Amino acid sequence: MKITTIIENSLGDKNELYNEHGLSFFIETPKCNILFDTGKTGDFIENTKDLHVDLNKVDYLVLSHAHYDHCGGVRRFLDTFNVHPEMYISEKFFVNSDKYHYSDGNQKLDFTSSDSEYRYIGIDFDESFIRDKKIDINYVNNDMVKLSDNVYVFTNFEKKYDFEISNPNMKIKQGEEYIIDPFDDEIVLAVDTKKGLLVLLGCSHPGILNIVDTIAKRTGKNIYGVIGGTHLVEANEQRISKTIECLKEMNINIIGVSHCTGENATKMFEQNCENFFVNCTGTVLEV
Ligand SMILES: [Fe+2]
Ligand SMILES: [Fe+2]
Repeated sequence: MKITTIIENSLGDKNELYNEHGLSFFIETPKCNILFDTGKTGDFIENTKDLHVDLNKVDYLVLSHAHYDHCGGVRRFLDTFNVHPEMYISEKFFVNSDKYHYSDGNQKLDFTSSDSEYRYIGIDFDESFIRDKKIDINYVNNDMVKLSDNVYVFTNFEKKYDFEISNPNMKIKQGEEYIIDPFDDEIVLAVDTKKGLLVLLGCSHPGILNIVDTIAKRTGKNIYGVIGGTHLVEANEQRISKTIECLKEMNINIIGVSHCTGENATKMFEQNCENFFVNCTGTVLEV
């Protein structure tokens, strides 16, 4: 099994590749190929040649949640390639896709400006766009769905770790009201390898520990590795420390963080976690 990080925030030493605030993985298994998220702009397509990824051979398109930095490349991908992958998204994906970020003007993240405002951070397509491309949509509404041999999708994560609170500035619009986004549209992919489960995270809005713990319990399997977005970018030091401590107790062999992890958390992982690496654009894992 081969997992290529086609695009994410950081670049590592591969200067010829594009990077951006977003995430996209390509997973090759003996039975199928999966595109998991598509980054922000569609630039992930530019990286595929150098990374020997053939997007004509995508069997499954899985989107972790309805944010622009994970789904922003969907249109360009489906307009560029004549492909009809089966799509897997949460049953809440379109229902909860009117997503916003409220900024008080002080934060400087990719999706914030210096004005206080609600900024749209959702998707730029709807169900009919996908259907017009002759793509079948599988709405994930079970705790665990088998996508193919050794590939599973998970949702509905238990909230065991109460310090993993949702960011109150992440909203969805319902009617005229902005409510805190419950992120029940988030789905996570896991591949079953000889070494154990490798968990691929989109943004981890429900909390990385809640996600990993739920998957471990639900499958009864050993978690070999975790890679992807951890959304620790807005977490305070106390929460980051607790997260690292709990992940260590889970005896995970590899932890490769990407995307929305943030400088602080990355530094703290580097200092406290031996099996840690930055899962940057162009990283290839063979398991
Ligand atoms: Fe994200
Ligand atoms: Fe997100």
